[in-house]
Amino acid sequence: MSGVRTTLLFLSLLVGLVGSGEARQAKTLAEITSTGSVTACADPDNLPFTSSDAQWPGYDVEVIRAVAAELGARAEFKWIGTRSARAAMRNLLEGECDLFPGLPVAPGFTEEYPQLAFSRAYYTMRHVVVVGTGRPLTGLADLRGLVTAVEALSAGDLFLLQRGYPRRSYRTQEAAFRAVQSGETPAALLWAPLAGWFLTRSSAVHLRLVPVSDPDLAVAFGVAFLKRDPALKHALDRAIERLEARGAIEGSLRRYGVPVGRAGARPGPSIEPARWVAAGNPLVTPVAEVRSVPPDFEEGRTIFQENCAECHRSDGRGGGSVPRLQQYPFGAEKRFIETVLNGRNSVGMPPWGGLLTEAQVRSVLAYVRVLVPTLDIPAGATPAAQARLIFGQICVTCHGREGAGTRLAPSLQAFRGTDEEFVEAVLDGRPGTAMAPFKSLVSVEMAQQIRQYVRDLGRLN
Ligand code: HEC
Ligand code: HEC
Repeated sequence: MSGVRTTLLFLSLLVGLVGSGEARQAKTLAEITSTGSVTACADPDNLPFTSSDAQWPGYDVEVIRAVAAELGARAEFKWIGTRSARAAMRNLLEGECDLFPGLPVAPGFTEEYPQLAFSRAYYTMRHVVVVGTGRPLTGLADLRGLVTAVEALSAGDLFLLQRGYPRRSYRTQEAAFRAVQSGETPAALLWAPLAGWFLTRSSAVHLRLVPVSDPDLAVAFGVAFLKRDPALKHALDRAIERLEARGAIEGSLRRYGVPVGRAGARPGPSIEPARWVAAGNPLVTPVAEVRSVPPDFEEGRTIFQENCAECHRSDGRGGGSVPRLQQYPFGAEKRFIETVLNGRNSVGMPPWGGLLTEAQVRSVLAYVRVLVPTLDIPAGATPAAQARLIFGQICVTCHGREGAGTRLAPSLQAFRGTDEEFVEAVLDGRPGTAMAPFKSLVSVEMAQQIRQYVRDLGRLN
């Protein structure tokens, strides 16, 4: 049930956030100039983007140092892991750092964080095709006849999938690069900075990078900061413009092998998007009505968090045009499975038919069913009110309104054990069942409050 636990960990962070209220304040422009220092968040181990290595700090670190210098300040770094994007972003949202370089200035991302402002983009991350120097490549359409290495479910993977081009998936961008380096595949479609960095550090003289100009495979990056001081955005934008004019940003990119057009010259040879031949509709998969394979929660969690969370959010709450999957209605299983397998391509939901089996989609649905609604507890709520809110936002999903039970979990009103047994079930969970341990979310006292709340629910009836 670690799927449930992952979500709860995130929830407990939120609860912590609500309580604290003593967050450090991010600096204004005036404070940055008067103190002569600005703090940036960066991953210590994420080359070619950022690193704590003094010799190879990564191009985002170089850019933010230059930007700080333009503001008359020195950049200090708060080193943070970025494997969990949400945890990384908290540092910025809580004012632990003033600036966060290298974040996408793209609608899906900026809308998710309305508290943040973004500088103008200083770099557009595109893709390249990595191929042997001897292999002619005139357009992306040439990839139709090759097996192309991609990172599983990366932008490049989905791009080729949607066009029905042959591809082979690898765990990481680096593994896909190695596949073409060793001759296992004739080509790879990778993010340009990563491909450039791998090539710079490899001995592969037989490979070249062919830039791809397709806008579907490009993302702009800038510096994010808390919306607090409009003057700061203005100053950052001006600083970036000055650095661009001096070629300083391009210089940093080049040091890390990132392919960039020659300054002043026309952009280098680049492949125009091909006109794709609609390949019939091979991905549409008919769905059988009855299925007896039991769903696998763990598999469902992995699939969801790695493939669906980027749009539907890790707690399934959706946002914008992406629908909420939390508390997906019973009786709508067939719609869920068909939507996932066939996609709704024209409106941004990719088809997963070639990648996931129907049984795997059922596992995803099983996982989605236990995703708890996002916790929302106002500061200053009394313990009794907190118990009611936690019950209403979490326990209700499985135990039902009034705690009267659903097909997922037993009635709590019918609970005949002692209060200690109730509290123990809440804190430690029931291993091997959907009842997760809630220790990280509720204290002993809160579990007792919830016990009381459930008892009161029963009395009302
Ligand atoms: C690139 C963004 C994106 C990704 C990735 C994505 N979805 Fe979606 N999904 C959407 C959008 C947008 C819609 C709304 C489509 C519409 O309006 O009809 C949607 C709709 C759905 C629906 C239909 C909900 C309903 O109304 O019945 C389901 C179910 C769904 N997605 C599940 C998944 C699952 C499971 C995954 C991962 C395997 C996934 N999605 C990955 C964007 C995405
Ligand atoms: C993801 C679904 C799920 C959620 C969410 C959930 N439970 Fe449970 N809970 C279960 C299941 C399933 C069982 C039965 C476990 C078993 O078979 O022993 C259970 C058992 C229990 C029991 C023991 C009942 C008994 O008769 O032995 C208590 C008490 C309990 N849950 C309280 C809670 C509380 C309080 C919350 C909210 C903080 C909560 N549960 C949230 C699924 C859930």
